[in-house]
Amino acid sequence: MQVSDNTVLITGGASGIGLTLAEALMASGSQVLICGRREDRLQAAQRKLPGVAALTCDIAEAEGRRALVEWVLEGFPRLNMLVNNAGIQRQIDLTAGLERVLEGDDEIDINLKAPILLTCALLPRLMAQPSAAVINISSGLGFAPLAFMPIYCATKAGLHSFSLSLRRQLQGTSVGVFEILPPTVDTELDRGARTGRGQHDRGIPPADVAQATMRALAEDTFELGIGRSEGLRTASRADLDQLFLRMNGGQ
Ligand SMILES: NC(=O)c1ccc[n+]([C@@H]2O[C@H](COP(=O)([O-])OP(=O)(O)OC[C@H]3O[C@@H](n4cnc5c(N)ncnc54)[C@H](OP(=O)(O)O)[C@@H]3O)[C@@H](O)[C@H]2O)c1
Repeated sequence: MQVSDNTVLITGGASGIGLTLAEALMASGSQVLICGRREDRLQAAQRKLPGVAALTCDIAEAEGRRALVEWVLEGFPRLNMLVNNAGIQRQIDLTAGLERVLEGDDEIDINLKAPILLTCALLPRLMAQPSAAVINISSGLGFAPLAFMPIYCATKAGLHSFSLSLRRQLQGTSVGVFEILPPTVDTELDRGARTGRGQHDRGIPPADVAQATMRALAEDTFELGIGRSEGLRTASRADLDQLFLRMNGGQ
């Protein structure tokens, strides 16, 4: 699909992968809209990328999604791309009880429910455009999970499954469905947890993910694993079993 002259909504576009993708899309001549919960981060993104439109909202809340969809449908009639990028990541000890799971932000609401419902809400507008796309930012961890972040990995497996079904249902329409699987990326996603567990590999720069995503769009590569995630995406079931053991500290 053409990478210029698009109108693109990127959820969570004020930081990390979303911000670098916003920059790359604007540089190639697209109008970009971003959203997030922290107003100061959205304002900083607007200073860095003059012309980017921004809305403060929480996509985990029905009211936040309603406000976002209304803002986009009323203000940006040419919207033709949705990037489901916003996400959070938590370490959760499932043996510590339900309270531990329920405290803090809800990964299922943010990483899985919101992308599904936003896609459904915006699909009529996307399908009305001559060329359109939904881009889901999932993860190699959707194929082989790290057991200490069980819900995060389950949401990414769910987003992969949703991407397959959505792509199938949209066959023959103007809407392409892309799934991008980044490896470890050096962003704020982990909120310091990597340092806390002594992980020295900070991952690749988010700009590398943005560049790979731009190439995937240009070449109609609908499912792309970046770096180590490509190995997970294409592994056999036997390989995944081995990888799961290795990733989670052996037998
Ligand atoms: N970093 C990695 O290693 C890695 C690897 C594979 C996949 N990914 C995926 O890449 C995507 C982007 O993450 P990132 O690494 O760029 O981390 P990031 O910099 O923390 O970006 C996440 C963005 O999502 C927004 N967000 C979170 N909850 C939200 C909510 N309820 N409503 C609206 N916006 C919300 C955040 O803004 P606010 O907090 O202001 O709302 C933030 O701008 C995520 O889906 C992540 O799972 C990341």
